[in-house]
Amino acid sequence: MAFVFLFTMNRVFIKTYGCQMNERDSEQVASSLRGRGYSVVDNEFDADVVLLNTCSVRDQAEQKAIGKAGYLAKRKRTDPNFMIGVMGCMAQNRGDELVDRLPDLDLIVGTQKFHRVPDHLDNLIQTMSGEGPKPSTIVDLGEETDSQNTIKDHLPKKNQVSAFVSIMQGCNMNCAFCIVPKTRGRERARPMEQIVEEAHALAEQGVKEITLLGQIVTSYGRREFPVVGGKSPFVQLIEKINDVDGIERIRFTSPHPRGFKQDLVEAYRDVPKLCEYVHLPLQAGCDKTLRAMNRPYTKERYREIVESLRSIVPDMYISTDIIVGFPGETESDFNESAAFFEDIGFDMSYIFKYSIRTGTPAETMLDQISKEEKERRNQVLLDILHTRSLWRNEQLVGTVQEVLVEGPAKRGDKFVGKTRGYRNSIFDGDERLIGKLVEMKVERATVSTIYGDLVLAGVDTI
Ligand code: 5AD
Repeated sequence: MAFVFLFTMNRVFIKTYGCQMNERDSEQVASSLRGRGYSVVDNEFDADVVLLNTCSVRDQAEQKAIGKAGYLAKRKRTDPNFMIGVMGCMAQNRGDELVDRLPDLDLIVGTQKFHRVPDHLDNLIQTMSGEGPKPSTIVDLGEETDSQNTIKDHLPKKNQVSAFVSIMQGCNMNCAFCIVPKTRGRERARPMEQIVEEAHALAEQGVKEITLLGQIVTSYGRREFPVVGGKSPFVQLIEKINDVDGIERIRFTSPHPRGFKQDLVEAYRDVPKLCEYVHLPLQAGCDKTLRAMNRPYTKERYREIVESLRSIVPDMYISTDIIVGFPGETESDFNESAAFFEDIGFDMSYIFKYSIRTGTPAETMLDQISKEEKERRNQVLLDILHTRSLWRNEQLVGTVQEVLVEGPAKRGDKFVGKTRGYRNSIFDGDERLIGKLVEMKVERATVSTIYGDLVLAGVDTI
């Protein structure tokens, strides 16, 4: 009986909100659930269990997940065996309060406990199949030594070209706006050999591109591993991944300007597989605001990093995160920030309207900025970004770019891939090209995409 019950309760759908780290954590949960005999399905209607892997960076992200959980809870009225879990940052941030607000939740799992999800589901299913009362919500939010080492398994996917590899967890910075130190805990690095082993395994499965993930990758292993030959542990790690046969491209996200030293700049010259693209969060282009945000660098230091990168790699692609409407940001502070943003010339940027986060240093700051003003500032930066990204993509028209082919494009019968500079590229392709590096002559550009034709001499498969 218990077996039959288990057998009919084993379809899980995981919905992920937020950053790449969350996507990676969800993949780990999916992989461990498969290992336990569950099937991971790709929509909520086919699922007996829905797990929401949540984000707390802005209020909007939390409200979305709370709304979704409330909506799913309705299904329990007609299907009492249906189960709902909340995992990740919002679970950690709101904890027990979530049970009060959403009493129908079966499972609440924090950011250091993803590996416990299969055990918890097994237990819930077993208890539900018994005669006793409905099990109460399982809440598992504690700290776990070495939890960083639990994010290591991947789901084998057909034709997978690119993979995320988590190299560390947590953040020791104290940015005034940010909830992450609370939700993700202190910095903990994974051992270098384990990461390199993971890269080898991915390469054997056909993966060609690896993106190293961490809250602040430039802090990777700085307490655990020594500097060798002037190179930080993070740069040593990049060099080791460069030696993995089969891996063609390396990316990472996100570095911090404070830890962005010359060894990392030079890696862009010396490490052939490291792509000429960096996502380097700026947050504000005004020293007064940076200080208020508790970001330990000046805009001139940021400029220096960008200039040293461009002096080594003239066509470096740079993207960023920037916040508008941080408390106390005056009109003239914003104008200074916007001028700097324009001056640097970003190829892509996430622009955030400041969102007040309970428990962060900025929560109690005076001079909160109105919603309308944040909206206005957001639009100013979007316009600057639009002009710049379009111009930059247009510069590529007529050139030949190396593209890593990912697969069919979402719409139409074209194929999609990326340049080393992370430009989305669309062209007429073929299934056999997936995972191959091809040459594309760029014919046309929009703000987000370049379009072109393959130069067949550069193709080694047909
Ligand atoms: N409000 C708005 N944006 C935020 N970010 C982090 N905290 C907040 C907040 N309270 C942005 C930062 C960070 C990105 C992931 O989210 O720009 O780099």
